[in-house]
Amino acid sequence: GDEVTMKTNLCYDGCDLVELALKYGTPLYVFSKKMIEGRCSEIREQFIKRYEGSSAYYAGKAFLTLAMCQIVEKEGLGLDVVSGGELHIAIKAHFPPERIIFHGNNKTRQEIEMAVDQGVGRIAVDWEGEIDVIDKVAGLKGKRASILLRVTPEVEALTHKYIRTGHRGSKFGIPLERIPYVVKKSLSLQNLNLMGFHFHLGSQIEDYRPYIEAVDVITKVMSDLRDDFGFVTKELDIGGGFGIEGFEKTMSKPISYFVDPVMERIKARCSKFELPMPSIAIEPGRWIVGEAGITLYTVGAIKEIPGSITYVSVDGGMSDNPRPALYDAKYYAEVANKMGRPKDKIVTVVGRCCESGDILIEDLAVPSDLKPGDILAVFNTGAYNYSMASNYNMLPKPAVVFVDKGKDMLVVERETYDDLLAKQKFIFNV
Ligand code: LLP
Repeated sequence: GDEVTMKTNLCYDGCDLVELALKYGTPLYVFSKKMIEGRCSEIREQFIKRYEGSSAYYAGKAFLTLAMCQIVEKEGLGLDVVSGGELHIAIKAHFPPERIIFHGNNKTRQEIEMAVDQGVGRIAVDWEGEIDVIDKVAGLKGKRASILLRVTPEVEALTHKYIRTGHRGSKFGIPLERIPYVVKKSLSLQNLNLMGFHFHLGSQIEDYRPYIEAVDVITKVMSDLRDDFGFVTKELDIGGGFGIEGFEKTMSKPISYFVDPVMERIKARCSKFELPMPSIAIEPGRWIVGEAGITLYTVGAIKEIPGSITYVSVDGGMSDNPRPALYDAKYYAEVANKMGRPKDKIVTVVGRCCESGDILIEDLAVPSDLKPGDILAVFNTGAYNYSMASNYNMLPKPAVVFVDKGKDMLVVERETYDDLLAKQKFIFNV
């Protein structure tokens, strides 16, 4: 009866996900606040407290809302922003600007002015021309901008080619051979304070070894710069990219898996070159929020093509999760209102967008009595889903809800049809 069905509903941090789907509608992004906080505190305990001078910036591009800024602030982390829009959210959330690092391979002058006006802690310079602009803007405002130079370390990380950034030929960072020139130039400019270097190798990297390779490259650069210009690197930001496990119940690697060997290597290299140990920063995005998020959908059309495939359509898709289509990302799901039943049917979960490539999950085992109206919970969707969502096919963006010990909090309202038209104008009289 009903009671049994209730008991087989999937719960998340004390909240019944089927009830949440009813209350807020679907698609719905649900985040465990406790899990996000847990990841932040692991970074604090296992990295910041253990390594003197170290710090962490949460990479907002993975998932940024006012509420998320509040959590990051409260947890004592910094914030990595990549646009005026992300900076605007941070400022509106009263995030302390000195804990913000501003990234981007093509910041506009207006964004640089905004960053300098707000007094962001660091600007990561991504190309040579940018230093003149930052210097000029800072000068006009009577300020001094603290910068890091983003270096392309020429390291190939094993991940999807769209999310690799540290290889030679990457659109990101300053090519190695140009670094001495850019350092010299930065040091000659009055309104800049060159603190050190940054690299970012890519995203969803599952191995610490590419970071070691990059450390070897950058510490050699640091040593040469000290020898050639007497420049001593105070800070080194090794970027983000720490991968999570996405499938079924496999646990992700602890942050120490990535940072411990890297810190050990940085220490060893600095002592080899007789360099003072710089302050080390990391910038995890996905590792903090990826596993905290679940997307809920309502099952609609179920199309069984005789002798072929069974398509289960849900009420979202590539509009709220473009990652399978873009990066061939794999996800896992459960039918939230039919937990614990034998899964004797293999289906392909597709979205409702008008694209054949709108496939969320291939070959998912589900209970054979799967019906329209059932609630599908897709796991590990916390990173780069909401932040990359679009209004394709004029689909309103889903709501975002945080759950915390049995309580749910709406942190972003679902878009309405009128929101979709908010900026539109007629061209003929109506
Ligand atoms: N720092 C910098 C400078 C970055 O460019 C990024 C990500 C991060 C930190 C954080 O990386 P994470 O720890 O989240 O891997 N949309 C793609 C991921 C693009 C990542 C871009 N940069 C995806 O959905 O897989």
